[in-house]
Amino acid sequence: MVGIFGCILKEGNAAPVVHEALKRLEYRGYDSVGEVTIHKGKLYIKKDYGKIGEVHALYNLDDLPGRIGLGHIRWATHGAPMQVNAHPHVDCENQVAVVQNGIIENYAEIKGELENLGHLFKSKTDTEVVAHLIEEKLKKGLSFVKAFHEILNRLEGSFSIATICVKDSDKILCAQKESLLTIGLGENAVYCSSDIPTFLPMAKNTVMIESGEVGILSERDYEIRKFSDWSQVLREPKIIDWVPEVAEKEGYPHFMLKEIHAQPSTLRTTIRLQEEYLDLMTTFLDRAKELFLVACGTSYHACLAASYMFSKMAFLSTHPVFASELIEQIGKSVNIDITILALSQSGETTDTLAAVDYARLHAATILGLTNVIGSTLTRVSRVYICQQAGPEIGVAATKTFTAQLSVLAQLALKLAEKRGKLSHVEMKNYEEKLKQIPEVVERVVRTQESKVKQIAKKYHDKPFFFFFGRGISSAIALEGTLKLLETNYLPSMAYPVAEIEHGVINVIQPGAPAIFICPKDDTHKKIIEDIREMKAQGASIIAVVEEGDEEIKALANDYVEVEKGVPEFLCPIQCIVPLQLFAYYMAVERGLNPDSPRHLTKAVTVK
Ligand code: F6R
Repeated sequence: MVGIFGCILKEGNAAPVVHEALKRLEYRGYDSVGEVTIHKGKLYIKKDYGKIGEVHALYNLDDLPGRIGLGHIRWATHGAPMQVNAHPHVDCENQVAVVQNGIIENYAEIKGELENLGHLFKSKTDTEVVAHLIEEKLKKGLSFVKAFHEILNRLEGSFSIATICVKDSDKILCAQKESLLTIGLGENAVYCSSDIPTFLPMAKNTVMIESGEVGILSERDYEIRKFSDWSQVLREPKIIDWVPEVAEKEGYPHFMLKEIHAQPSTLRTTIRLQEEYLDLMTTFLDRAKELFLVACGTSYHACLAASYMFSKMAFLSTHPVFASELIEQIGKSVNIDITILALSQSGETTDTLAAVDYARLHAATILGLTNVIGSTLTRVSRVYICQQAGPEIGVAATKTFTAQLSVLAQLALKLAEKRGKLSHVEMKNYEEKLKQIPEVVERVVRTQESKVKQIAKKYHDKPFFFFFGRGISSAIALEGTLKLLETNYLPSMAYPVAEIEHGVINVIQPGAPAIFICPKDDTHKKIIEDIREMKAQGASIIAVVEEGDEEIKALANDYVEVEKGVPEFLCPIQCIVPLQLFAYYMAVERGLNPDSPRHLTKAVTVK
């Protein structure tokens, strides 16, 4: 995934235009880059692993001939970051080139069929199947356009694709399903891209291609059709007058807010992970004699939430451990019987890697969950899963956290099934609820954002915050605190609320804001008592409640609502969203930039 770009110029060479366009996507983070052009019936390709500047210095990305070109920057999802896996990908005959942003979920099945027909694959990517599928249709005598049309209904997943072919060398064909794709109409060129900033300096007139639609681009014209019935779609161009800085954030003022809003989409991708990866990891989890969940920061909070999921769903007890404490805490007992599930969205956090190294040296089995294929964690893990959330730019982890939670929830569910802990009916019900979680998060953001904004306005000058939960929600209380700490530099503390009796109660001052996460799970009755007690101390109660929970609403000074009926193991995914928004709007109210908190970097790779 990450970004695709294509252009047809009236005159001149496309390659430098593609190169410049890709540079405008650099801010997003990527591991590889590639370009392709067509000239006199031949494809010209340059691609490699590395940053655009490095690849350009090695190969010169500007000297490919031809007026038509495609480009791609890649964030590995299938296949390690290597030259062979960089886009564009071609068919066996070098006549079709394809770039893709997204995930083609059923590529393994298609690849098998094509290999049986004699196709030779060079890469480990999902994208390459598209070039070979088109080739197969061209062999049967179909035109390029017809071939593209016929293969689109075979592709499952969410993606935007652009392709060119030497047999019809004045066109770019592009299509999208549940992904972004826009046409740009310039004076001297037509463009298509997954990211408007790529062509913004050359074209302000844009036409969106919607999910399930194809764009057929030629020098002077464009046409949009539906891939279901090939009917034509008439859509007027719109003028986009974003300045480049706003365009990168797709109109949001900060990346953090853009990434909070991106969560329904990233969750859609993560809940469609390939079964074989989940099954393999589940087998290891099931066999683990003793399982430690190891990570830092936000990833540690995902471990904590996972410990409740694994125990409640699959009757597997686990031990969450801060990576930085592993050697001191359990070092002497690490041996061949220990399994470590290490979580790190970057896959490069020094403390996590040090813990993993230590455990490997003591013969433990290492399992990894990360957002970066090719990261050190993927290299040192016996088995790893990539959570497929795409690059995250805001320093505060948001969409990578909910992606971690959704993978862990899927593992808990698989493990419960494997261990026979759920009936068929329960299993079906949970699977259905899992499928609905992106829409649930979408609704929580849509309906609660303005309320959270008001709450942030009301409390923004408070000097100290408390976050409380019980059960699995204690992990979310901790994550809510971390978001506030890192983006607002405000002291705050989080506890499983029963712990307050053991000391914290002494520091609750009248008017102190106490944020309670209180879904209607088994802890609900107790948490009502906790809220009453805290009110008696004079705290101002801000509650995250399920809709219709009148009892807590009546007790709270302020509340935001999440959806009812979401099972306990999935509830953290929706409950963290208002807290992410709270940290964001608090920072905005307090005049801070939530995207670049002081003293913090995206990956902590120093001691
Ligand atoms: C918080 C945050 C950090 C990271 C921590 C671990 O928003 O981003 O606390 O969670 O540094 O990073 P990874 O997951 O890359 O190992």
